[in-house]
Amino acid sequence: MDRFVIRGGNPLKGKIRVSGAKNAVLPLFAAALLADGPCRLTNVPRLRDVHTMIRVIETLGAKVEWIEPGEVQIDGSGVTNLEAPYDLVKTMRASFIVLGPLVARHGYARVALPGGCAIGVRQVDLHLKGLQAMGATIEMGEGYVAAHAKQLHGGLIYLDFPSVGATENLMLAASLTPGVTIIENAAMEPEIGDLARFLTSMGARVKGAGSKVIEVSGVERLAAANHRVIPDRIEAGTFMIAAAITGGHVTVEQAPCDMLESLTAKLLETGASIYLGEDSVEVTGPKTIRAVNLTTQPHPGFPTDLQAPFMAYLALARGTSLVTETIFENRFMHVAELRRMGADIQVQSARGALLNGVSHLSGAPVMASDLRAGAALVVAALAAQGETDISRIYHVDRGYEMLDAKLRGAGADIERIKEA
Ligand code: EPZ
Repeated sequence: MDRFVIRGGNPLKGKIRVSGAKNAVLPLFAAALLADGPCRLTNVPRLRDVHTMIRVIETLGAKVEWIEPGEVQIDGSGVTNLEAPYDLVKTMRASFIVLGPLVARHGYARVALPGGCAIGVRQVDLHLKGLQAMGATIEMGEGYVAAHAKQLHGGLIYLDFPSVGATENLMLAASLTPGVTIIENAAMEPEIGDLARFLTSMGARVKGAGSKVIEVSGVERLAAANHRVIPDRIEAGTFMIAAAITGGHVTVEQAPCDMLESLTAKLLETGASIYLGEDSVEVTGPKTIRAVNLTTQPHPGFPTDLQAPFMAYLALARGTSLVTETIFENRFMHVAELRRMGADIQVQSARGALLNGVSHLSGAPVMASDLRAGAALVVAALAAQGETDISRIYHVDRGYEMLDAKLRGAGADIERIKEA
């Protein structure tokens, strides 16, 4: 298992380029299962989760080929196996998103329940309720969900929570289902809009993506199409926070500035300076970090995926900050490791943590517990005094393409130690 060894204290300088969005490309792969020919996706990041998703859809019988770095061709027309196995789904919850397209196109699918993960129970009840509203029969057993439907029909669906995955699963199913499906209280994350653009280019009729109400009028068939994946706003935000905590000056290129308003506002509140360009954002870290309170919310609120990296930043703020996590019930796994580096953080409940800023963090051996907790440890290590050794970097490799190389290019003293 690879480790990062980081010697902190270098202000990040220069340019860092953002890759394609992990949380956009995964549902795009599922959408390609609906097309009657090969689709091509560009700006595809080389991530562990992308490789896992490729294995899932190849298991179903889709043909997947890397045309060149960043470009993948997916042909879902030859899918014959309608079962997504537990050994793959358990490693990546997003695999569950193949359920909707398979049921809509083939009338049946059996997908392993994703189970929980470090940050929470990760239920799928909203996905299933939506498919039932479209006429699917759902059977649970042996840790799998089997969904049958002679023919799905349009339905009116209200999501109790604006679930990103449920919104995507149901949009995918509805695109190839006769009738009109309306998803109310839909997720508004930018990745939903990217999926809608791809579906539309395939011939789907989707209205309202990016708003609370999405209307899909199903069509008979969906044609192959090509699509460029949007930039990763969470990767971009992580680099912005890294620039701020190190007191550096960084231009984050290919940054989706229009998707980063909440983070930009919070960084400005702490005293950072930010210049928004056409497709880049320039961040200058503050001399003194001002403490701020933070509450994660569904988009356009502050993204839960940046809560951990931002908490690492607030560990060095002057004053007291309250961080409230409203999306997941166990997303403070990074706190114990940050405390090992000298952070003064009290977890007050499953959803609340109180930080008293400290004058400095100290390097230490720490361990990544999940993707964004790992990112938080990297951010903290970049500013810490001394050397930090972060183990279980495979968590970080799930969602950050060449993170060490990108940070090294901006002046970070970071080394990847490859272990058998
Ligand atoms: C997506 O996960 C992202 N993953 C997550 O990013 C992100 O944190 C999350 O959306 C919220 O923005 C991908 O897009 C691949 P949800 P998803 O369904 O779809 C509850 C990262 O670090 N819920 O919006 O699984 C659920 O338990 C990852 O890149 C139900 O109760 O998120 C959670 O508390 C982590 N029932 C909340 O909603 C359901 O049927 C948010 O879940 C579905 C969800």
